[in-house]
Amino acid sequence: MKVNYADIVISAASKKQYPKAPIPEIALAGRSNVGKSSFINRMIQRKNLARTSSKPGKTQTLNFYIINDKFHFVDVPGYGYAKVSKKERAKWGRMMEEYFAERDQIKATALIIDIRHKPTEDDKLMYDYLKHFELPVMVIATKMDKIKKGQRHKQVKMVREVLEMEEEDTLIPFSAETGEGKDVAWRTMLSHLNM
Ligand code: GTP
Ligand code: MG
Repeated sequence: MKVNYADIVISAASKKQYPKAPIPEIALAGRSNVGKSSFINRMIQRKNLARTSSKPGKTQTLNFYIINDKFHFVDVPGYGYAKVSKKERAKWGRMMEEYFAERDQIKATALIIDIRHKPTEDDKLMYDYLKHFELPVMVIATKMDKIKKGQRHKQVKMVREVLEMEEEDTLIPFSAETGEGKDVAWRTMLSHLNM
C-alpha cells in the first residue's frame, strides 16, 4: 500500500484520550526495545515518526498514528524490561487491559519478537492474552538482518513452536533495517482491515 499520509493523533495515557473516530486499528505489542516503533516507521517509510531509541522504555503511552485517514497504528509500551518498579508494572497492566479489553475497533495485532532469541515467558503470555480477546495475531519476527541465512528456517520454526502459534496466525520474517517482509506485512494487515 502506498502511504500518502501518516501522523500522530495522540499519545494517550488513558481511555478518555483515545481518538473518537470509529476507524479500524492495528495494535502492536512486544518486549521493550524489540523494535515496535521501528516496525511502524518502516511500514510507512518515515524515518522517525514513531520515536525509537537504543534504550528500552522509550514508548510510555498508547501512541495512535493515523495512516491515509483509513486506520490507526497503535504503538504500545513494551514489557519485560527488568528495571521497572512494581508500581509501573501494575500501571502498564491496567493500561493494556483498558485498551485491549474494551476497544472494539482493534482488527488485528502485531506481536513483535526478536528473531535472534527464544520468545520469553512474557511473549507467550502476551500471545495468549491477545488470543483470549479472539484477536488475529501477526507475529513479526524482526531483526532478520542480524542472523545468518542458514539460521533463518530453524529460528522461524522455533518461534512458531515456542509461542504455540495457532494455524490461522501468520509469522512474518521482517527487518526494519532492510525492509524485508514489508510487503507481506501490508498484505496481511490489509486483509485483516478488510481493505
Ligand atoms: P520501546 O518503545 O522502548 O519499547 O522500544 P521499541 O520496541 O519501540 O524499539 P525501537 O523501535 O525503539 O528499536 C529499538 C532498537 O532496535 C533501536 O536501536 C533500533 O534501531 C533497533 N532496531 C529495530 N528494528 C531493527 C531491525 O529490524 N534491525 C536492526 N538491526 N535493528 C533494529
Ligand atoms: Mg517504542
